[in-house]
Amino acid sequence: MSNAHEVVEKNVGLMIVLTLIAVSFGGLAEIVPLFWQKATTEPLETLEPYTALEMEGRDIYIREGCHVCHTQMVRPLRAETERFGPYSVAGEDVWEHPFLWGSKRTGPDLARVGIRPITEQWHREHLRDPRQVVPESNMPAYPWLETTPVDWRHTERKLRLFKDTFGVPYTDEGIAEQVEKFQNGEWSEASEEDALVAYLLSLGRERKEINP
Ligand code: HEC
Repeated sequence: MSNAHEVVEKNVGLMIVLTLIAVSFGGLAEIVPLFWQKATTEPLETLEPYTALEMEGRDIYIREGCHVCHTQMVRPLRAETERFGPYSVAGEDVWEHPFLWGSKRTGPDLARVGIRPITEQWHREHLRDPRQVVPESNMPAYPWLETTPVDWRHTERKLRLFKDTFGVPYTDEGIAEQVEKFQNGEWSEASEEDALVAYLLSLGRERKEINP
């Protein structure tokens, strides 16, 4: 037995292979059950699918790289819940494809920004020129969003993809209603700023009733 130990200790290659095997058992035990655990696979009861306008706003958020400076992940630490709101749970991200947790906080966490006391008008002014409302801000300005119309060409396909591939509970009638709204209805003239602000205001609504 002590010989076998000696062989492993003196043979770096073998040691690496055996270490990887040992570590992968830990990974299996910790990670694999998450694929079946209810808390990580079932959406929160209060979760609502994005409207077409919010969905386009989310894509603008990704295109502009907002997630590079902003996280959407409140950790269960008092300093975070007091500042940002209820901590994040897996059930609120089941329909997020891709998720936008981020990893760097140049600006504040935005996971609950929609339920904080910030008005729609503030968001608009802030996006057009952050330093008008927060003089020390180093966030870039996004003035062109106000005058750029939303590109609706792929929206219907996106909604169908989320329904059919990711299991988000849109219905055919629901999608038809959304399409009507952006083809002939209230969103037909919407700007990218309208979409992005609608998305920001949707963030955290599923946790509105929950105290940290
Ligand atoms: C270079 C980093 C950077 C980028 C990129 C960035 N931000 Fe910010 N953001 C900040 C900083 C820093 C603040 C804090 C100062 C302020 O309020 O302007 C902030 C603040 C905010 C706030 C106010 C949040 C609060 O709770 O007070 C919102 C909303 C916001 N950003 C949205 C966005 C959106 C949407 C985008 C993409 C279009 C974006 N940010 C891109 C750095 C960034």
